[in-house]
Amino acid sequence: MGLWSYEGKRVVIAGCFSGIGEATARELVRLGAEVHGVDIRQSPVPMASFRVADLKDPASIDQAVKAIGGEIDGLFNCAGLPQTFPALDVMKVNFLGMRHWTERWIPRMRRGAGVATIASNAAYRFQDRIAATLELAQTPDFDAGLAWCESRPDLVGDGYTFSKEAIVVYSLKRAAELARQGVRMNVTLPSPVATPMMWDHFVKVAPKQVFDAFSEPVGRMSEPQEQAYPLVFLNSEAACFVSGLAMPVDYGFTGGVNTGVIDVQKLLARAATA
Ligand SMILES: NC(=O)c1ccc[n+]([C@@H]2O[C@H](COP(=O)([O-])OP(=O)(O)OC[C@H]3O[C@@H](n4cnc5c(N)ncnc54)[C@H](O)[C@@H]3O)[C@@H](O)[C@H]2O)c1
Repeated sequence: MGLWSYEGKRVVIAGCFSGIGEATARELVRLGAEVHGVDIRQSPVPMASFRVADLKDPASIDQAVKAIGGEIDGLFNCAGLPQTFPALDVMKVNFLGMRHWTERWIPRMRRGAGVATIASNAAYRFQDRIAATLELAQTPDFDAGLAWCESRPDLVGDGYTFSKEAIVVYSLKRAAELARQGVRMNVTLPSPVATPMMWDHFVKVAPKQVFDAFSEPVGRMSEPQEQAYPLVFLNSEAACFVSGLAMPVDYGFTGGVNTGVIDVQKLLARAATA
């Protein structure tokens, strides 16, 4: 077994019915992992076990964690809802339920294990609202977090960007808190990806030019597999000293923004008039 191998590793994945999660589950099975999956829809990937679990519902999450049981080497958080759903449902799946699910697994993680969660490059300016997202991250549980969200519709908005900023901030904070326990936590920030979420949802709420702007500078969307590989790396032993990373998987978008090569506001203004 090498550093890059998943032979003998026991991993769990949330959101393995379609898109990036499906691609990640397939790659993990191919690499020899014992993969246990959950989703609201039956995954097509042949894995060690699959259970229906709804991240909007803490009781459903608790049941799934108990049913899978045991210790794990990696947790892959790939479930998500777009902003075509009610804002509080988006907050529940992308942040509140994801956090509840992750916290349930932490005591079951072997030393050296990792959590890899998909956020989005919609959260590329997460520092701007970090005081608010830290406050949300500090709520003690699902219900308290939901009450916080209900009281701040101005911040929550359509739920998507705020939930992604919140999951980034929560992951970075917990990475620091869990370091001496030997549990790593990282998050990816993908640019637009060719998945059902894109074709069935995102394109209905924004013009093509918005996705073109966020697909700069490479000028194309990624395929789900291209997002799966970095997640698989982050939870591998090869990433044993990588924790607390908000990792853009965007072929240069973040770098371009940070160095002024890409002017997002200008691109979005152009999109608004197109
Ligand atoms: N597609 C993109 O352009 C893009 C860009 C950046 C980030 N992301 C993020 O990537 C992640 C994966 O999305 P995707 O693009 O692969 O889309 P997708 O719709 O194919 O995948 C989302 C998965 O989450 C599952 N899911 C939805 N609600 C759930 C619930 N209540 N409980 C459990 N599972 C649930 C779905 O069944 C599906 O398997 C999401 O978090 C999404 O926000 C996507």
